[in-house]
Amino acid sequence: MNITAANATQDLADTGLTPRQLLQTWENFDMPPGAAEKIKHVQRNADKWFLFYGNPGTGKNHVATCLLKDAVSAGKQCYCVKVLPLCLRIKSNYLQALEIIKEFSEYDFLILNEIEKYSIIRDSDRERNVLFEIIDNRYEAFKQTVFITNQTFEYIDSLYRIDGTGKNPITDRLAEMGQRVNFNWGSYRDKKAGGNQ
Ligand SMILES: Nc1ncnc2c1ncn2[C@@H]1O[C@H](COP(=O)(O)OP(=O)(O)OP(=O)(O)O)[C@@H](O)[C@H]1O
Ligand SMILES: [Mg+2]
Repeated sequence: MNITAANATQDLADTGLTPRQLLQTWENFDMPPGAAEKIKHVQRNADKWFLFYGNPGTGKNHVATCLLKDAVSAGKQCYCVKVLPLCLRIKSNYLQALEIIKEFSEYDFLILNEIEKYSIIRDSDRERNVLFEIIDNRYEAFKQTVFITNQTFEYIDSLYRIDGTGKNPITDRLAEMGQRVNFNWGSYRDKKAGGNQ
């Protein structure tokens, strides 16, 4: 976190947002047919945890980014990270895991993007345990977390399950704190692609 002046809002350059995400706003979100009620529900519950899931290009990042920007405007410290690079960072700096836990536990608002990509390194429990520490600290401190995936809740539940136990402590917390939102409409990328002959 890099805040210089007291009470200054966080610089968006320090939030992990990509150049594409920096352009995403509620104003330029073109409401997909049938999406208005769900998006209004998200806006009305803007301080809840969420699991945004659905097909590629349906605006999951876009909507989560808008929530993040609103949280920054409200003076919160925010960050957006993809789970695979986070897991690889944990893997290659395991002795620094405590610092990584502290860093990602402290943000007031965190987007964990592409949470299904944990599947790529799931042969080690270390990354899952560090992710759990982050999520549990955030849960205990009532700090908002938005999860994004192309997969379903059921897939994520079984992916992060600890072998031999019936319950998954990560998705159990998500179920209590969060609301699942199915982005079940067409890809905006398809809409923009149009030049193919
Ligand atoms: N309804 C929309 N109105 C305007 N732009 C949109 C809308 N939906 C998506 N976009 C734009 O389309 C691109 C892809 O959207 P986004 O990254 O949010 O999709 P996603 O659901 O996260 O996809 P993926 O699952 O592939 O990561 C972005 O540039 C985003 O701003
Ligand atoms: Mg995305």
